Amino acid sequence: MKNIAVLTSGGDSPGMNSAIRAVARTCAHYNIKCTGIVRGYSGLIENDTKNLYTRSVRGIINRGGTFLYSARSEQFKTNSGRAKAFENIKANEIDGLVVIGGDGSFTGGLKFSKEFNFPVIGIPGTIDNDLFGTSHTLGYDTALNTATEAIDKIRDTAISHHRLFLVEVMGRDAGFIALNTGLAIGAQEILIPEVNMSSDNLINSLKRSKSAGKTSTIIVVAEGDKTGESVFQLANMIEEKLPKYEVRVSVLGHMQRGGSPSCFDRVLGTQMGITAVESLLNGESRVMIGIQNGKINKTDLSKAIKGKSKINKELLRMSKIMNT
Ligand code: ADP
Ligand code: F6P
Repeated sequence: MKNIAVLTSGGDSPGMNSAIRAVARTCAHYNIKCTGIVRGYSGLIENDTKNLYTRSVRGIINRGGTFLYSARSEQFKTNSGRAKAFENIKANEIDGLVVIGGDGSFTGGLKFSKEFNFPVIGIPGTIDNDLFGTSHTLGYDTALNTATEAIDKIRDTAISHHRLFLVEVMGRDAGFIALNTGLAIGAQEILIPEVNMSSDNLINSLKRSKSAGKTSTIIVVAEGDKTGESVFQLANMIEEKLPKYEVRVSVLGHMQRGGSPSCFDRVLGTQMGITAVESLLNGESRVMIGIQNGKINKTDLSKAIKGKSKINKELLRMSKIMNT
């Protein structure tokens, strides 16, 4: 193992840079080369690389986004695209690859590893927290804090105008961000894809809160929630059924992907980057580096992709108690 490559792929997340930095500096620590692949799998196919030395990754641990950029590459989903990528792996004399990304990136990385019998280690870099085998994906903690701060600000104006706000948060098809930020900001209701809350139940809950004298309300909606066709359709439905409510919608969107990583994510990225390089040096492959109960662990990549990360529905029950 003389040359380890690292790439970031799929949706970027805060903390990716701390993981890149840790991979590069751990390689230097063990006197091996580190090759950065620019723009994820697209860069691997186009041979867009840069040598990463200790000094190359200075001043990035506190920066959001990814210093190596990211991309979504349809070509890597084809055999010819992955074959081209492997040609570049050989041309650059790369002996192992660290993939920092989500389940899609891991799916591609696992295929690549099997097709070419090539060592690949995954670091779960996504704000969605939807990967089996880890309590935290890299960027999730920062996204929770970003969304919480944003919804606190929305609450100020909701109170001032006696309004009901529907706030949509990210998560693709997982409700982790919605569930935790909803509890953190005192949402009246939290709508997540893992629990089907009918629109009738939602209306009844709003009627109860109104009769209990609540003058402003926040509902946090996960983007993958299916209660309505969309958060805007939900707003229209509420206005029709509860004309007394003045309803507004706020979609937080991509701000949840940015920002300086939290201390937790910087430490997590460092732990994962170091563990990924040391795993490759120990001859390991096709595992995802994760964390459970504060301890760094490893999960087969196939399980990380196929498994379903369980959401803590107890938090939903607790949220209802808080809204008695
Ligand atoms: P994430 O990793 O955040 O889930 P995507 O699902 O967009 O993001 O996947 C990122 C990239 O991983 C894709 O653009 C593609 O290059 C690669 N990828 C995703 N799914 C597959 C697949 N089934 N086969 C090969 N490559 C894939
Ligand atoms: O997977 C991370 C994520 O932010 C999801 O939460 C979101 O649905 C998706 O990426 C958005 O993808 P894009 O950045 O391509 O619009």
